[in-house]
Amino acid sequence: MTACASNRAVPLIAAEGLTKCFAKHTALRAVSLSVARGEVVAVIGPSGSGKSTLIRCLNGLLVPDAGTIRIDGAPVDMRQQRAWRAVRLRVGMVFQDCSLFPHLSVLQNITLAPVRTGRMRREQAAETARNLLARVQLADKADAYPAQLSGGQLQRVAIVRALAMAPEALLLDEPTSALDPEMIAEVLDVLRTLSREGMTMVIVTHEIGFAREAASRVIFMDQAEIVEQGAADAVLTAPREARTRTFLDKIL
Ligand SMILES: Nc1ncnc2c1ncn2[C@@H]1O[C@H](COP(=O)(O)OP(=O)(O)O)[C@@H](O)[C@H]1O
Ligand SMILES: [Mg+2]
Repeated sequence: MTACASNRAVPLIAAEGLTKCFAKHTALRAVSLSVARGEVVAVIGPSGSGKSTLIRCLNGLLVPDAGTIRIDGAPVDMRQQRAWRAVRLRVGMVFQDCSLFPHLSVLQNITLAPVRTGRMRREQAAETARNLLARVQLADKADAYPAQLSGGQLQRVAIVRALAMAPEALLLDEPTSALDPEMIAEVLDVLRTLSREGMTMVIVTHEIGFAREAASRVIFMDQAEIVEQGAADAVLTAPREARTRTFLDKIL
């Protein structure tokens, strides 16, 4: 957590009117989203609906064509790389395919960013990394290399790598979609624990059971827009919109 005074009434992440086009294709059309501290928001929707584009826009991996983003009330100057770097220190990202450096050990992968950015000295970063690895049952893998780990273990390391920067929020893009079924549970367990501990998260996921139980809010996207959002149980059990119902019927 940062030392700055944070106002609980102000959303940690507040996006207004985010629009992103690729050539003539609009991937995100005037999407607004507000995430409070401690909230876990699950984003669901068909392939191509703009889910990845949305969460990539939230930390500048894609720069929106229009719209505004505020972090803890402060507007992000979206034309400035420096502003996005500051956002990424506070809002971490975990991808479907965890992209660890193959030539670095697990510990080196995790300590790289905290040391490079000057967040921590090497010893402190290593200690933090070992503590976090223990929390995801990977204490014995600190010196292993990515090629020696299973998909579920790799994804837990990727989550630890994001946590090592002590972010205030995590964005996760289909963190279990590349995993074999037996490994999905071990990653969802870690996310459940983080959720219980109050970590703010926006998770793109197809794991509807997980969304129902761990998310405070579910957002359904289709065709570059948020079609419907609300309490997880309401959206997943009794959706108001026909498009949401059609999607849920298809995947459940
Ligand atoms: N880098 C890109 N270049 C061109 N089109 C893209 C790019 N990224 C995404 N798109 C298009 O934008 C739309 C939304 O994509 P995406 O956000 O990845 O959807 P989702 O994550 O919901 O599957 C899709 O039609 C996709 O083909
Ligand atoms: Mg996607």
